Amino acid sequence: MLYTAIYTVLWGLVGLTAAQAPNTLANDNPNLRTASYNATFFIVSVPKSTAQALVPTYSLLPVPSDDDSIFPNGFPADQHPLLVASGLQNDIRITAGVPLQIQALLGAQYSVPYVDRLGNGKDAFQYQLNNYIGGLDGQNTMSLVPALVGTVAGTPAVPATYDPNDKAYNVYPTDEYSVLVKQIGVFNALSGPSVQGEAFDLYSSNTPTTTYTPKAFKAMNNQPLILQGLVSTMCLRNNYYFNDTRFMEPVLRSGSVTFGSAVKSELKGQVYEDQGAFAAVAQILGHNPESCEDAIAKNDPAVLE
Ligand SMILES: *[C@@H]1O[C@H](CO)[C@@H](O)[C@H](O)[C@H]1NC(C)=O
Ligand SMILES: *[C@@H]1O[C@H](CO)[C@@H](O)[C@H](O)[C@H]1NC(C)=O
Repeated sequence: MLYTAIYTVLWGLVGLTAAQAPNTLANDNPNLRTASYNATFFIVSVPKSTAQALVPTYSLLPVPSDDDSIFPNGFPADQHPLLVASGLQNDIRITAGVPLQIQALLGAQYSVPYVDRLGNGKDAFQYQLNNYIGGLDGQNTMSLVPALVGTVAGTPAVPATYDPNDKAYNVYPTDEYSVLVKQIGVFNALSGPSVQGEAFDLYSSNTPTTTYTPKAFKAMNNQPLILQGLVSTMCLRNNYYFNDTRFMEPVLRSGSVTFGSAVKSELKGQVYEDQGAFAAVAQILGHNPESCEDAIAKNDPAVLE
C-alpha cells in the first residue's frame, strides 16, 4: 500500500523538460528493479589512508594498476579511487509485492570501490557512503519515502535536492556541465524539508580523461555493493549496462568534485580537480540482496562491454 501511494503521487507531479532514454531492460526483467540512468560518473583519486578511513570494517584491495585496459597510465600506489555519480533515473520499475513504477527520480551516490569484503584478497566490492535521492522539480518530499525504502534495503539512502532539478545535469554553451547535490534534513510540517548542506558539486568539461578508460567506469560501478545495517551479511548486484548503443551517448570527460559539509568527515570541504569523468546513459538492473559470495559468482561479465 505504501508503494501504491508513492506511485500515485509521483506520477502526477513530475515534469521532465526533455525526452529521456527509455528503460530497455524492464520487459525482460519484470521481477527486478530496472531504470535508465542518464548520469555522469567520476573517479576521484584520494590518499589510500582517506579511502581506508571511509570503510570502517573491511580492508582495501590493491588497485589493479597494471591493467592498462582500465588504467592506461597506471595508478599511483599511495592513492585509491572513489566513485561519485549523479544523474536522472527514468522509468524506474520495482516489483515489491505490487508492481511499482516511478516516472523519474534524481539519484547520486559516492562509494569506495576495491573493498575486500570477503577477506580473500581478490574479489572487489563497493562500500557505499551515501545514496542521495531527490524528486523532480523540487518535489523533494516525494523522495523521502523512496529514500526510506532504500535505507531498509541496506543502502545508506538520504533525501536530497538538486540543481538542476529537472534533468541529469546543466549544459552550458561553453561545453561545461554541472550538477549540485544538497542533502535535506528532517521534514518540518510548516517549512517543508530543511536543507542540511552541500553533498557535492560536480563540474565537468569535454576534455577526455587520459587516466581512465570507459571500462574503468564500467568495472568499478559494477562491483557488488556491500549492504549495511540489518542486512550487513548480504551484498547487492546493482548492475549498470552500457550496451544499448541507441541511447547510451558515452563520452569521456574530466572535471572537479567539491565535497560539502553533508558528507563523511574525511571528505568534508575537500576539492579534487582534474579528475576523470564519464557521461553516459546506463540501463540499471538491480538484483535482490544475496550472499556476497553469490554476488561475485553471478556478476555478469557482460557489464564490462
Ligand atoms: C541526458 O541528459 C542530458 C542533460 O539533460 C541531455 O542533454 C541528454 O539528451 C540526455 N540523454 C538521453 C539519451 O536521455
Ligand atoms: C544488454 O545486456 C543485457 C544483459 O545481458 C541484455 O538483457 C540486453 O538485451 C542487452 N542490450 C542490448 C541492446 O544488447
